[in-house]
Amino acid sequence: MADPVKFTIDGHELEAAPGTLVIEAAKRAGIEIPSFCYYEGYSLQAACRMCLVEVEKMPKMQVACTLPVANGMVVKTSTPQVVAARKSTLEFLLTNHPLDCPVCDKGGECELQDMTFRYGAAESRFADTKVHVDEQQWSPVVFYDGPRCILCFRCVRVCNEGMGVGALGVINRGVSSLIAPNEGDHLECDECGMCIDICPVGALTSGPYRYKTRPWEMEHVGTICAHCSNGCKTTLGVRNDHIIRGNNRDRSGINGEFLCIKGRYAFDFTDHPERLQAPLINKGGKLEPVSWAEAISHVAKKFQEVKDRNGSFGIIGSTRTTNEENYYLQKFARLGLGTNNIDHHRTGDVVSLIDALAGRTDALATSDDFYNRKAVLLVGADMSMQQPFLAFQARANYRHHQAHIYTVTAGPVREDNIAARFLRVAPGDELAGIEQLRDALKAEPELVIAFNDSIKGDKVRQLVAFGDSLGIPVRYCALVDYSNSRGAIDMGVLPDLLPGYKPATPAGMSADEMLEAIDLDVLWVVGSNPLEHAKREWRKRFLVVQEMFLTETAKLADVVLPAASAYEKNGTVTNGCGEVQRLKKALNTMGTKPDLEIIGLIGREMGLAQTLGPWFPDQVFEEIRTSVHGYNVPLPIIATGGAAQVASLNGPVNVASHPNLIQSSHDTLFTSGNLGKYSKILNSVMESRTGTNKSDAEMMESYNP
Ligand code: SF4
Ligand code: SF4
Ligand code: SF4
Ligand code: FES
Repeated sequence: MADPVKFTIDGHELEAAPGTLVIEAAKRAGIEIPSFCYYEGYSLQAACRMCLVEVEKMPKMQVACTLPVANGMVVKTSTPQVVAARKSTLEFLLTNHPLDCPVCDKGGECELQDMTFRYGAAESRFADTKVHVDEQQWSPVVFYDGPRCILCFRCVRVCNEGMGVGALGVINRGVSSLIAPNEGDHLECDECGMCIDICPVGALTSGPYRYKTRPWEMEHVGTICAHCSNGCKTTLGVRNDHIIRGNNRDRSGINGEFLCIKGRYAFDFTDHPERLQAPLINKGGKLEPVSWAEAISHVAKKFQEVKDRNGSFGIIGSTRTTNEENYYLQKFARLGLGTNNIDHHRTGDVVSLIDALAGRTDALATSDDFYNRKAVLLVGADMSMQQPFLAFQARANYRHHQAHIYTVTAGPVREDNIAARFLRVAPGDELAGIEQLRDALKAEPELVIAFNDSIKGDKVRQLVAFGDSLGIPVRYCALVDYSNSRGAIDMGVLPDLLPGYKPATPAGMSADEMLEAIDLDVLWVVGSNPLEHAKREWRKRFLVVQEMFLTETAKLADVVLPAASAYEKNGTVTNGCGEVQRLKKALNTMGTKPDLEIIGLIGREMGLAQTLGPWFPDQVFEEIRTSVHGYNVPLPIIATGGAAQVASLNGPVNVASHPNLIQSSHDTLFTSGNLGKYSKILNSVMESRTGTNKSDAEMMESYNP
């Protein structure tokens, strides 16, 4: 490593690696150099002149955001000349900027407002008429107010470099310069809102948040996105039990500031008008609202009666309920009802991967590995559409570390644009495609391999054997669909696996078998909609459904119990990389209960309280930590909002993974299984695209390469 460079900033003797920018070196020493256009992680722009500093022996002031430190350099950041320059820059930026802070969404967290308070320039010498352009709506999510724009180009860079979309550009010159969307008067893009969040002023604002509140009127609750398996932290702005916005500007989670449209905006299912807020019992062919006491007692009585006559139960769990709920549900099934008939919608072959890697402690990829490892191979998956954060990580890895990206997919994917090599293969031929990359991969110092449901069963073992044969360190990730798809597997919501991948004997029925079975007396569905696309006639049996909405399955139920969403409860979830994170309750929705409490109440009513133990999330998590292999994760990490990866299994799984039962939903950026149907923002984006007469596939391809 090259020797560090020695220099001084404001009299402090400092050292930094060669190439470090003055603005970064100052920040690390606790000295703030104000900036607008500079943004860590994106290309340098030097557009705003806010970061001017004095450097001894240099005749003019220098731009700290593009100047690398040098040996003997003497930098001064707060001389009268520097302070005057900042004030002039602000005065210049404000010449055309409307002073509408009292109505601007950014008021209270605007960088221009903050700087103006700090450095003055409140009085303008500019007496001419300002150039005005009307505000424009570019999409259901993105609005642009040109006069507020200070042309820092952060939005252009984050869209182009961070998202790999490139939907924003600049038109016109001088004072008439404006940011413009990719489709003339509107945007066709990921609708991620990254450009809105990174905008230092209120020039870009978001449809769902506009004019609803002020930042200081909200409570800010850090929790985990309810949608895909990437497990992004999202900080929800909540007022009066309504979520008003989502962002992660404090960069507190594994995802830093990244959020896709779902984590940033698709929280709106929580106050959808069709939300269930009272238990329902089917009385004479009609679902009628009843009290919680009546509903719980009705379910418990029926369960007890079936149990007493040795009847049969089937339980279908969820890919979105918490680890505690999944663990408690399978415990209820096995110890309370005496059945292994428990399953969930399986979306990726984690079981075969855990089995193939048995005994290795360092072979499961973390989400950080997608950013830090030297090479990444993506097999089958359209990551930008289905695993947006991991795709963002891989793009940043390519930009910052020149990582080599390889893609082997059936159709074009956005990652092809940055790939060292990309291969198109017929669906099912992915392994043969990878073989063609053998020599290139062998030459890499290390590798992450991520694969979707195109690789399952024996193919997973063949893929791991291929990785082993490369002679380099390889880490793997079996991509799954939803926020706790991985947790459902780890917690044993499977007919043949107990928590921690221990075999369950005799194996119970799979979800499909339960739906087909003619002799099942009770079907209990928790947070799932297995009858959505029922190909078969519904066979009448006692059906209990815990749900947020009256789904296709709930409509057929004898009892519907209204469940709290992921944003309305505490607990933990495990993302696709096996990282455990904490869900924090952000709001209450009247009439609902968390699934864990519902299951606990049914158990208590059946006299199972002793057998099942307490149903408080912290106590169940403690039981998980002590009894489920790999989950003895450090509590302080989880409690403080961090992510702790579960430990690998120290032996084989010894249970078949049933590849025929594994099927990803292949959601797009704007769908999210059952939950997506109740998100107004996701639906409005889909509808706005339909207005352009593009098919779903064309829409996706229009901003894939
Ligand atoms: S919403 Fe996202 S994809 Fe669309 S323009 Fe903004 S940054 Fe680009
Ligand atoms: S819209 Fe915002 S982020 Fe984009 S150039 Fe203007 S001020 Fe900068
Ligand atoms: S990438 Fe996944 S976890 Fe992250 S914000 Fe989007 S949907 Fe949520
Ligand atoms: S921050 Fe340096 S020129 Fe904008």
